[in-house]
Amino acid sequence: IPVEDFDLVIFGATGDLARRKIVPGLYRRFVAGQVPDSARIIGAARTRQDDDAFRAEMRAAIEEFIGPGQDPAQLSAFLDMLGYVAIDARGTDGWAELKARVRPGVVHAFYFSVAPALFGDIAERLAANGIADADSRIVVEKPFGRDLATARALNATLARHFDENQIYRIDHYLGKETVQNLMAVRFANILFEPLWNAQYVDHVQITVAETVGVGGRGEYYDHSGAMRDMVQNHLMQLLCLIAMEPPYHFDPDAVRDEKLKVIRALEPLAAEDIVRGQYVAGPDGPGYLEDAENPLSRTESFVALKVRIANWRWTGTPFYLRTGKRLRARTSEIVVTFKEPPHSIFDDGGTHKANQLVIKLQPNEGMHLTVMIKEPGPGGMRLVQVPLDMSFADALGAEGSDMPDAYERLIMDVIRGNQTLFMRGDEVEAAWAWTDPIIGAWEAGSKRPEPYDPGSSGPEEALRLLHRDNRRWREIR
Ligand code: BG6
Repeated sequence: IPVEDFDLVIFGATGDLARRKIVPGLYRRFVAGQVPDSARIIGAARTRQDDDAFRAEMRAAIEEFIGPGQDPAQLSAFLDMLGYVAIDARGTDGWAELKARVRPGVVHAFYFSVAPALFGDIAERLAANGIADADSRIVVEKPFGRDLATARALNATLARHFDENQIYRIDHYLGKETVQNLMAVRFANILFEPLWNAQYVDHVQITVAETVGVGGRGEYYDHSGAMRDMVQNHLMQLLCLIAMEPPYHFDPDAVRDEKLKVIRALEPLAAEDIVRGQYVAGPDGPGYLEDAENPLSRTESFVALKVRIANWRWTGTPFYLRTGKRLRARTSEIVVTFKEPPHSIFDDGGTHKANQLVIKLQPNEGMHLTVMIKEPGPGGMRLVQVPLDMSFADALGAEGSDMPDAYERLIMDVIRGNQTLFMRGDEVEAAWAWTDPIIGAWEAGSKRPEPYDPGSSGPEEALRLLHRDNRRWREIR
């Protein structure tokens, strides 16, 4: 179903995100028939160039990030929708022209794909020049602050010109298909919810493992680290969706209210529940210190945490979180391990294993539930674990393998005016309020992160975090 007619202005249109994600994403939605050809996409950035130069640049981006051999008629119809305005975010140049380009009577969205330091300048000029009004939407990206104080200041800056219901803070993890499916599985089935609590869930693991290092973006990353770059936002959002109470309706504020309650219920972490790691050099690449070009860096490229949620549902069930760069495989998954049955009637010699629900976010999105069955054959009552499997690509056929990328979906939600999959300001602040003391203690201390080999599962200490509780991580593969 096509969305309403819109004008989308991308500030920072010559940057990496616009080339890699925003414009190719819009093109894919256009090909899918979701973006009407009356829509206008206006790039705005400092570079002086005309519409045609911008179109040529975006044609190259589409061919690079989606693939060569696009249908020429479709591609040129899409490129015709693009325009460009050279603009000075801190001055006066370009604003009158931008105003002239934005049409009245259609949805207006302004994508701030720029450094957060410019958010205030742009917001102010949009308002002062009468380009944005009370119906306009603005889209902002992480980093959304680097601690509670900076996040508050950013929220306050935006709030001077826009209402909370106009602000779309992107966490692209919320746009991933399986992440949304998590809510469908939990709240559209009777099967899981009765078991979804500390009485039946032994523990939960959330792993976001990457094989890439930080080379190429070492400078940004070295000021951030895994805690700020991944945990405060992406892993926290996954944790919220797994742990939250059922919202009364699938409505933006109902969902976000429940997520916020989870964050507020997080217990402060004890030092022994935190592991930080930093990858060393390996046969196929440099170590973190070289990638970050900072030989003394104490920034973590890996973190593992044992998190407790202090509420009625979850007291007693730990949530183990880990994420890192240069690990064995690129995989993101959530594993819910249920408790063992209270009594075993089989003499199975200890082969019995607890049921696990594995929710695979990437690659090969899908879910499987492990169950125990009788081993086929005449060998007596021996038990064996088998998966009840659902891969989205298999289950949904072509539709499943051609799912929109997170950005595509989220941008369409902005145009539709649906904030359910965007972070509210208070959620972001609550998440920083929880991570600040952890990061603060690291920065005040002198301890180095634990070294780990590239291609491994992270430092030994992360394995011990579970071993000491008689548990083990699901292998990264
Ligand atoms: C980004 C982080 O937000 O997410 C990156 O800044 C990380 O460091 C990326 O690599 C991971 O996203 P995805 O979608 O590839 O899992």
